[in-house]
Amino acid sequence: MSEQIQVSSLGALGAKVQGVDLAQVTPDQMQALQEAFAAHEVLFFENQQLAPEAHLGFAERWGEINVNRFFAHVEGHPSIAQVVKEPEQQGNIGGYWHTDHSYDQVPALGSMLLAREVPPLGGDTLFASCTKAFASLSLGMQEMLLTLRAVHSSRHVFGDQAPYVEAMQGRLGNSQAATQDAVHPVVIRHPLSGRPSLYVNPGFTLRCEGWTDTESAPLLEFLYQHIGRAEHTIRFQWSEGALAFWDNRATWHWAVNDYQGSRREMHRITIEGEALGAA
Ligand code: SIN
Repeated sequence: MSEQIQVSSLGALGAKVQGVDLAQVTPDQMQALQEAFAAHEVLFFENQQLAPEAHLGFAERWGEINVNRFFAHVEGHPSIAQVVKEPEQQGNIGGYWHTDHSYDQVPALGSMLLAREVPPLGGDTLFASCTKAFASLSLGMQEMLLTLRAVHSSRHVFGDQAPYVEAMQGRLGNSQAATQDAVHPVVIRHPLSGRPSLYVNPGFTLRCEGWTDTESAPLLEFLYQHIGRAEHTIRFQWSEGALAFWDNRATWHWAVNDYQGSRREMHRITIEGEALGAA
């Protein structure tokens, strides 16, 4: 079998990768995957027969594993988070635009989500490109944003009495560990591609540093609407054995909750990143 991988762009962001078995990636394939990841921001693979050990083995080739503090984990694998929705549950995990771990001082590089069980219909994931969104702003707006930093937190999402924790009906825990706050530039220089990327998200960003919540809200709302515009997004339809690997520093994602009455189970491994600098 040829070792050459095929990378096909999906539009605003993302690429479908074919011709690779993620359980046995060669050094040449690994280099091609690294280049594709920096260029496309999220990579999609299909029909992967990955045992948890192989999923972990592939993730470890990208960096240290970040063990999620709040998610339940796959039995026997504390570093693999279980993202599940049972047929009788209404709310899903990650059903809104967000960037994982922006509340950490050193935010995670990205996550690898592997589909174990998918509903017969629905349960897609949307992705948005924060680098494309920055590039499509006016020069004046870009220059203003380059001067700003924003405050992010985990407390209002994963902390005690957070409505989201309640809605997840036991799928999230460890609320006392939701103590993270972080300040990052509103526009970061992407560590791999060097492209400027908008680094605010509706999940975890609270305000612009030095501004009140009320002052910050109109600007953040404008940026959220802008990033989520159709021309900055794609939609991925899952099949069992598909794996998405996204870059948190360049993308947002949203798990669509349109499969009431069906079961969906995904396994997520998150990879540590690095401190983010201004663009
Ligand atoms: C997540 O936000 O990590 C979950 C994404 C998904 O389940 O599609």
